[in-house]
Parts: sequence; structure tokens; C-alpha cells
Amino acid sequence: MKIFLDTANVKEIREAHELGLLDGVTTNPSLVSKEGHDFHEVLRELCSFVNGPVNAEVLSVDGNGMVSEGRTLSKIHKNIVVKIPLIKEGLKAVKILRGEGIRVNVTLCFSPTQALLAAKAGASYISPFIGRLDDVSEVGMDIVRDIKTIYSNYGFKTEILVASIRHPLHVLEAAKIGADIATMPFEVFNKLFNHPLTDIGLARFLSDWEKLKKK
Ligand code: G3P
Repeated sequence: MKIFLDTANVKEIREAHELGLLDGVTTNPSLVSKEGHDFHEVLRELCSFVNGPVNAEVLSVDGNGMVSEGRTLSKIHKNIVVKIPLIKEGLKAVKILRGEGIRVNVTLCFSPTQALLAAKAGASYISPFIGRLDDVSEVGMDIVRDIKTIYSNYGFKTEILVASIRHPLHVLEAAKIGADIATMPFEVFNKLFNHPLTDIGLARFLSDWEKLKKK
């Protein structure tokens, strides 16, 4: 499973990249606005070192506007993937952008039937928002399972990008289901490294080694 960071914070992205574990980045208007920097400049900087997709979202809600924003974003760098919201106008835009060879991630997906439509429109990626479904007492991960079944039933090539991940258990479930990508906040990524028994085990190895040196 590929690991993406879901942030527009360049420092965090650089750190994950330097570990050699980063496969791509997703941003959205909320994440970009939190950092307070120029959107296109941030994208250019990310594309200069991230070896994989850098997702950038359009702000228009009409098809033509989305297509025009998508074209502009895609010209920034070959690694840019254009994020389009899962609404009727959005899927119209997906078809046009895909026809021009521009990669598109359909975002704000909350149901398997929405995901079916996105795949039929030619989406390169579909982003089911797991945590936000959990927030309203639905089991977010169930839709990932359903999307996986639907896509494999019909041989859709659209990659499943699990989004709105809130904790390591979401990452585990996504991997067990066989999702293509999990995108997560830096905080969740860091938690994946940790286990108290690893720390205890390491401390014990080192203290035993010290004992040997004293003999
Ligand atoms: O990738 C989508 C993500 O940014 C939304 O996450 O935690 O705001 O639901 P969240």
C-alpha cells in the first residue's frame, strides 16, 4: 500500500520524504489555508522533491471552471494530480480532463455508488473520506470494502485512496482490505512507527550490552 501525507506543511513532507517512505501528497483548501502560503508556490516546492503524485484541489463548482483550474494546476508540474469534488459538474470535468491526459482524484466520496460513477467517468483515484463517516456514526471503512469489490468486479483501474484517516487502525484496515493508497496526517504517520515493546526491547539490549562491557 502506498503512503501519502495529507498536509500542505512542507517541513512535515520533507521529513517523511527523507525517511524514504513517502509515495505522494494530498492537499485540500482547508489544509492549504492552514499553512497560509501561496498555493501555487507550495505546489511548486513540493513537486521539486516529492517522487510521486502531489494532489491539488480546484475551487470552482461548475464544470467549465473546474476544467480550466485543472488545466492550470496540471501545468505546474507533471506530478500534479487534480482533485475534483464528487458532484455532477465534477464528474463532467473529470471526463474532459482525463480526455486531455490529466490525472484526476475524485474527492469527497461518501458512498460506493458515488465511487462507481467516478470510476465510470475515468477517475485516476477515488478518495473515500473514512473519518468523516465515522464522525456521523457510519462505519467509514465499510465503503472502502464495497468500493474494492465493485472495482474488482468490473476491472476498473481507478486507485482507491483512503482519506480522512484519523488513527493507525484506519491504516491497518485500509491495508487489510487492499486499498491502493492511504493518505494520513503527519501525526498518524509518526504513530505507525511506535510500539512500547520495541522501546523496552531496545533498552534491554543496550543495557545487557553495557553489562558485558563491564565484565
Ligand atoms: O484527505 C481528506 C482529509 O484532508 C480530510 O480529513 O480529518 O478533515 O476529515 P478530515
